[in-house]
Parts: sequence; structure tokens; C-alpha cells
Amino acid sequence: MKFPALFKPLQVGPYKLAHRVAMAPLTRMRAERENFAPRPLNAEYYGQRATKGGLIIAEASPVLSHGRGNPATPGIYSEAQIAGWRKVVDAVHAKGGIIFLQLWHVGRVSHSSYHGGQLPVSASATPRALETAEVKDVVEAFRQGAKNALAAGFDGVEIHGANGYLLEQFLQSRSNQRSDQYGGSIENRARLLLEVTQAAIDVWGANRVGVRLSPHGIANDSGEPDPMPLYTHVVKALDKLGLAYLHFIEPRSSGAGRADVNWQNVPSAMVLFRPLYSGVLMTAGGFTGESANAAIAEGHADIIAFGRIFISNPDLPRRLQHDYPITPYNRATFYGGEEKGYTDYPAYDELTPA
Ligand SMILES: Cc1cc2nc3c(=O)[nH]c(=O)nc-3n(C[C@H](O)[C@H](O)[C@H](O)COP(=O)(O)O)c2cc1C
Repeated sequence: MKFPALFKPLQVGPYKLAHRVAMAPLTRMRAERENFAPRPLNAEYYGQRATKGGLIIAEASPVLSHGRGNPATPGIYSEAQIAGWRKVVDAVHAKGGIIFLQLWHVGRVSHSSYHGGQLPVSASATPRALETAEVKDVVEAFRQGAKNALAAGFDGVEIHGANGYLLEQFLQSRSNQRSDQYGGSIENRARLLLEVTQAAIDVWGANRVGVRLSPHGIANDSGEPDPMPLYTHVVKALDKLGLAYLHFIEPRSSGAGRADVNWQNVPSAMVLFRPLYSGVLMTAGGFTGESANAAIAEGHADIIAFGRIFISNPDLPRRLQHDYPITPYNRATFYGGEEKGYTDYPAYDELTPA
């Protein structure tokens, strides 16, 4: 085997992972357009990517209607959505896979057309600052999303604290000009993320909850001027909770959803924060089998999440295990549409019939 570190089993909370090749959360905008429920096509897609003992993090899903910012992204706030997700979960479980759901609130990365003319909300008045009492409603919405994910049969949830969305808008000083207990000091800016994480823990227990962060990231006009003090505080606070895992996006691929660029000479999240975190650490961003194996072998990370090449290689773990060629992805079909660029990427065995 070429990448032995990548294929060493690992215990994550109550789950035994057979390998460390996780599927990163990937927004594909192919849910029902009217009620935002996952469709049978979505179940087929996730089922194709499931492996025995392999971890999938299902795409970011708004926990309430006001947390939306995109067409056809699946939600986790209605009965129809829970029922749709149950079919996705069943398809993954049928192959022995493990599936977490990423819980999402976009905050200001939205438009009033998604909210019946009402302004999107954020930490500050771009466009509208949440009232302190409304911040509590956000925590409760995440709690309900966590409950709904449990009802849908998921194996755990991941809190989306990355990529410039609501929780990161609160974390970072450029987007948070609040003067209540959720703004100002680092402790205050981290409060919402930690309250939301605790709400998910209340529902699931800590060992079935993950958190995703993108320190040094620049997605969606984010970017903390001096990330180390903020993220040192956050990572240390999360370390106390006994989570299933902490999940980073490497800054070099902060814009991966929109561009192919990999910024060079940027700090590595896993290298910076590994010494501060004692639990399972996952990271993502432009990894190949080679670099993923090296990151684990060198002790920088425990799991590598793959995004774009998991889109184009439904059998990615097997391809890496056998060092089979990797099919390139087509960026034009990332967001929206039907089967094309979604469920029609063949497995390696289908490319080369025996
Ligand atoms: C099409 C697309 C959709 C994405 N959607 C999400 C998402 O829903 N949640 C999230 O945290 N990251 C999302 N990302 C970021 C990926 O999870 C991953 O961190 C990034 O693509 C870097 O990994 P890669 O180089 O292996 O693709 C997305 C990226 C792409 C390309």
C-alpha cells in the first residue's frame, strides 16, 4: 500500500473509521428548489461516495430559513427536509459509511430576495446587526437543527464556523463591531460559536459533534487582521469540550469553491494549531494522496478531508489506496444542475472493466 498512514484505522467518538480519507462538506445546490429538501438524486450521490468505515460530512445546511443564501441548498428545518435527508443517510449507512451533517447560517452572505424582502443579518450593521435577544434565537436554531439531524438518522453534526459565514462574522473583528457580550474582546467574539457548539453537544454529546474553522481564510470577505490570538483562544476552548473532531480549512485553499488558485506562502492551520489541540484533528485544502499521507505520518493531522477530487472520484478512498489515477474535476458543474458533474463521474472499475 502506497499511503499506509492514510489507511490506518482511527476511533472518532463512538465510530471506528477504517481510513482517514473523509469527504469534505461540499455545497452542490441540487436539492428541491421549492422546499429545499434533499432529493433521491442527492441520496444516489452520497451513496456513491460512501465506504465502509469512511466519514462523509454532508454539505452545509441552513438551520433556519433566515440562514439561507443560495438557491437549492438543502435545509434542516422542516419535516420534508428531514425526510429527504433520511434517504441520504440510509444510502450511506447501507454501505457501512458514517455521515455527519454540517449545520449552517450564512449571515450576511445572502440577499433580501431570500427572506421575503427582509435584510439578511450579521454581527454588525452590514446589512443588519442581530439584536442581543435574537442571537439567542440563533443558538436555539442550531439546537433545533442538531435535533433535526438526529431525527434524520445522521451520525453526528459539524458546526460551520468557517468561510466568512455567520459564526465567523461574529468571531472576526472586521465583521463584528458589537458592544454587547458578543462583541469586543476575543472572549466575547468567540461566545456565539461556543454557545452554538454547546447547544449541539446538549443534543448529541460532545463526541458526536465537530467544529470547522478557517483561520487565515479570506472567503466571503472574511479575514482577521491578526488571527493567532483569536484562534488560539477558540482552539483552546474547543479542546476542553471533548469533541469528535476539530476541522480546519487550510488558508491556501480558502477560495476553493470559486477558483483553482492555491495561495503559496500562507501559514498552515494544521501546523499552527496541532500543538494546541489534543483531540482528533482534521484538515482540508488541496491535498493529494501523497501530501495527505505525509501530513498524517508527520503528526500534523489525523484525518484529511478531500473536497474537489471527491466530487470527480466517487471511489476516492479506493483510488488512493491502490494509487489509481485521479479523474480531474469540472468546475463548471460544481453548483446547480442535475446528474452531469454530480452522479455521472465513474468509479475506476467502471473506467477499466476487468
Ligand atoms: C463546490 C464546493 C463547495 C463547497 N462547499 C462547502 C461547504 O458547504 N461547507 C464548507 O465548510 N466548505 C465547503 N467547501 C470547501 C471544501 O469543503 C474544502 O475545504 C475545499 O474545497 C478545499 O479542499 P479541496 O482542495 O480538497 O477541494 C466547498 C468547496 C467547493 C469546491
